[in-house]
Amino acid sequence: MGRVEGKVAIVTGAASGLGAADARLLAAEGASVVMTDINVEAGEAIAREIGAEFFEHDVSHEPSWRQLIAETVERLGGLDILVNNAGIAIIADIENTTSEIWRRTLAVHLDGTFFGCHHALPAMAASGGGSLINMSSTAALVGIAPYLAYSAAKGGIRSMTKAIAAHCRSRRNNVRCNSVHPGSIDTPMVHAALDGLGGPKSNGEHFPEDVRRRLGLGEAVDVAQLVLFLGSDESKHISGAEMVIDNGDTVVQLSGPGGN
Ligand SMILES: NC(=O)c1ccc[n+]([C@@H]2O[C@H](COP(=O)([O-])OP(=O)(O)OC[C@H]3O[C@@H](n4cnc5c(N)ncnc54)[C@H](O)[C@@H]3O)[C@@H](O)[C@H]2O)c1
Repeated sequence: MGRVEGKVAIVTGAASGLGAADARLLAAEGASVVMTDINVEAGEAIAREIGAEFFEHDVSHEPSWRQLIAETVERLGGLDILVNNAGIAIIADIENTTSEIWRRTLAVHLDGTFFGCHHALPAMAASGGGSLINMSSTAALVGIAPYLAYSAAKGGIRSMTKAIAAHCRSRRNNVRCNSVHPGSIDTPMVHAALDGLGGPKSNGEHFPEDVRRRLGLGEAVDVAQLVLFLGSDESKHISGAEMVIDNGDTVVQLSGPGGN
C-alpha cells in the first residue's frame, strides 16, 4: 500500500527538476498523477514512463486552470493534492529588473499559485479535503539580491499560503495548505543560475555527486520526499507551515556559522 494510494494529484511544472521528481514519487506511492507544464515534449515523455497523465498548461493562464481542474475531477473522480511547483528565475537585481521581468515573474509564481489554490479548493473540499502544497523558496525568508522579482514572488507565496490555511481552518473543509522552501537543489533552474552568476557549468540534468557536494546542493528527490509527506495523511495535522529544506543554509546565514 503506497503512502498516497488512491489519491489524485496535480503537479505543475512537472516536466523538469523538482516537479518531475514530485510526480515520479507520488506516482510510485500510489497516486493518480496529472502532470502539467508548458514543455509538452519532456512532460509527455515522463508521464508515459511513470503512467501519469499530461496536460499542457501555462499556470499564469486562468482559463486553462478551470479546464485542468474540471477534467481531472471528471476523469479521476476528485482532487486530493495540488503541487503548485511551476516557476522561473530570471537574474536581475533591483537596478536591473525591468517591468517585463517583474510582471512575468509575478505572473508565473503569484498568479499561478493563486489560480491553482483558488480553483482547486472547491474541488478538494468536495472530495472531503486535500493538501495544497505551494513551492516557495528560502528566497522568501532572506531575499536574494540578484533575484529581486523572484524573492518578492516567493515571499508572496509564503504569506498567501498562511492566509489560505487560516481560511480553510475557519471553514473546517479539511483542506490543508503549506509552503515548501528549498535552498539550492540540483535542477536545470540552478544550473542556469550558477552559469549566469559565473559558477560551474552543467552539461546534463544533474551535476556529478562530487560537484553537488562541493556546491552544497540538495537533490530533487529530497524535496519530493517532503512533498510526498505533505500530500499524504501522515501530515494531517500540519497546515499553514513553512517547511524549510536547505540543510541549515538559512540558519547559518541568519545566525552566522558560529551560531552568533
Ligand atoms: N532548484 C532549486 O534550487 C529551487 C529552490 C527553491 C525553489 N525552487 C522552486 O521550485 C520550483 C521548481 O524549480 P526547478 O528547480 O525544478 O526548475 P526547472 O527549471 O527545472 O523546472 C521548472 C519547470 O516549470 C515549467 N514552467 C515554467 N514556466 C511555466 C508556466 N508558466 N506554466 C507551467 N510550467 C512552467 C518549466 O517548463 C519547467 O519544466 C520553482 O517554483 C522554483 O522556483 C527551486
